[in-house]
Amino acid sequence: MYDIRDGTEADLQALFRVRQTHALLEQYVLDAQTSLTRFVVCEHEQEILGFAELVFEVRGRKAQSMLLPRFNDLFVVPTARNRGIGTALIAALESATLERGFTMLYCSVDPVTNHRALALYRRLGYQPVSPVPERKQEVFFDAWGEVQEHVYWRLELVKRLDGPPTTAPRGHPRPLETTDIAFIVYCA
Ligand SMILES: CC(C)(COP(=O)(O)OP(=O)(O)OC[C@H]1O[C@@H](n2cnc3c(N)ncnc32)[C@H](O)[C@@H]1OP(=O)(O)O)[C@@H](O)C(=O)NCCC(=O)NCCS
Repeated sequence: MYDIRDGTEADLQALFRVRQTHALLEQYVLDAQTSLTRFVVCEHEQEILGFAELVFEVRGRKAQSMLLPRFNDLFVVPTARNRGIGTALIAALESATLERGFTMLYCSVDPVTNHRALALYRRLGYQPVSPVPERKQEVFFDAWGEVQEHVYWRLELVKRLDGPPTTAPRGHPRPLETTDIAFIVYCA
C-alpha cells in the first residue's frame, strides 16, 4: 500500500534519487516548515515514488491580502506512473487545503506539452479558469552566454473542494481534448 505523508529532511537522499533537482527539493523541505507550504511524499516499501508541493500563495497587499492554495509541483517516478500515485498525492493536498479552511485549489499546466497531467487534472475535476492558455516567454543566458528564448503555455485550473464529487471514471471522454488545445494555441 502507498503511504502518503509529509516529506522531511530525512527523505532528501531518497528524493534526490527520484529527481535530480537537489536545490529545489531542499527548498521544498525547508519551506514546509512554514505555514505557507505543505510538502508530501509517496512512500512504498521504504522507497519514495513521488512528491507534491502545496503552496498558500499570498495575493494582494497588506489588509487586502489573501491566501490562494495551489499545488505547483507534482512528480511520480516514471516506472511507478499510472498506478494512482499522482491521484493519491493530489487527494492528500486537497485534504490539506480543506483542513486549512480553503475550498478552492488551483494548479496550472502546459496544455501543449503535458497532455498527461492535463488529462489527470481534468479527470479529477479541475476546470480551466479561462478558455485560453497564457503564453509565457523567458529570456535567459545559456552556458555559452548566448541569449536564449523559451516560449511555453500555462493553463490555470481550479477545483471546488466542497462541491459534489466531480471525478470522472477512467476512460471517460474529457471536455477538453488535445485537438481543442491545438486550436486554442493556433487562435492565441
Ligand atoms: C502527471 C503525473 C504526476 C501523473 O502521475 P501518475 O502517478 O501517473 O498519476 P495517476 O496514476 O494517478 O493517473 C495517471 C493515469 O493513470 C490512470 N490510473 C490511475 N490509477 C490506476 C490504476 N490503479 N490502474 C491503472 N490506471 C490507473 C488514471 O486514470 C490516469 O489516467 P488519465 O490521465 O487518463 O486520467 C506523472 O505523469 C508525472 O510525474 N509526470 C511528470 C511531471 C509532471 O508533468 N508533473 C505535472 C506538472 S503540471
